[in-house]
Amino acid sequence: ALISMRQLLDHAAEYNYGIPAFNVNNLEQMRAIMEAANKTNSPVIVQASAGARKYAGSNFLRHMIEAAIAEFPHIPVCMHQDHGTSPAICQRSIAMGFSSVMMDGSLMSDGKTPSSYEYNVDVTRRTVEMAHACGVSVEGELGCLGSLETGQAGEEDGVGAEGTLSQEQMLTDPDEAADFVKKTGVDALAIACGTSHGAYKFTRPPTDDILAIDRIKAIHDRIPGTHLVMHGSSSVPQEWLAVINEFGGDMPETYGVPVEQIVEGIKYGVRKVNIDTDLRLASTGAIRKFMAENPSEFDPRKYLKKTMDAMTDICIARYEAFGSAGNA
Ligand code: G3H
Ligand code: 13P
Ligand code: NA
Ligand code: ZN
Repeated sequence: ALISMRQLLDHAAEYNYGIPAFNVNNLEQMRAIMEAANKTNSPVIVQASAGARKYAGSNFLRHMIEAAIAEFPHIPVCMHQDHGTSPAICQRSIAMGFSSVMMDGSLMSDGKTPSSYEYNVDVTRRTVEMAHACGVSVEGELGCLGSLETGQAGEEDGVGAEGTLSQEQMLTDPDEAADFVKKTGVDALAIACGTSHGAYKFTRPPTDDILAIDRIKAIHDRIPGTHLVMHGSSSVPQEWLAVINEFGGDMPETYGVPVEQIVEGIKYGVRKVNIDTDLRLASTGAIRKFMAENPSEFDPRKYLKKTMDAMTDICIARYEAFGSAGNA
């Protein structure tokens, strides 16, 4: 059944677990996410980015998610719009049937330039007013994703802030977070704690100076009733990097957010954990391996099935680790 994000996250808070929110662009990802949820009896959050809408088209995405709901009627599914850059974009998704939207007012509507606090409050508050009138939940964001290691926004594929950021911008301030939630009425708040989008988050396994889980705790202490969201939460599995590089790929050494650190964050109020890159890495690794080992195969279903299996394994592992398994 289609369900709002608020309902899912309220349950997660009551029972102290987190829900992975997987990005969806194609049928194979959608099926992997649902098969894994079905196997582990987990609620589901699927999210569509602007890039996904450009790739698959909003109608295809929407009907694919609705197909998933029809095929797995016993699994609660939240259909979330990821990183909306204006109230108008959020309004369009609400009209299309999304049960949750993210108004990312931490950036201007170009999706790149960090905004002022007043701008963020204004666009987010307006989106909440409109969405709540339709029974739709809203995620806001305060702080900018970026690398505490390099001081760079560090987004290699055009999602998120660009250029150099200050330490202050990359770590959400607890008092400001409290004021933001009070002024906007958001259902969930995405915070910045040193993570960034994509595969290149950290050049070494992260320590607490570059991945600030203690900041999450400080925010949670200040606003214990607010559901927190972690973006850029892929773990960048070393085993998939190795497969990619063994079968013709060329990816440099890189590290993501360890699952244990996310689990730590969940103890401090993180309820929604955004994951895209891990499914991309598993998919690419599975295809490279299959192609290299089966050079005469030409049926796309053969290699796409491998991507589905690889992604399903990751989804199962996250549902189990975050504790959403068993809560559908
Ligand atoms: O927000 C970041 C997600 O990984 C989406 O990326 O815009 O390339 O689909 P995308
Ligand atoms: P990753 O790139 O770490 O998977 O993060 C995805 C994300 O935050 C989508 O909003
Ligand atoms: Na989001
Ligand atoms: Zn994100």
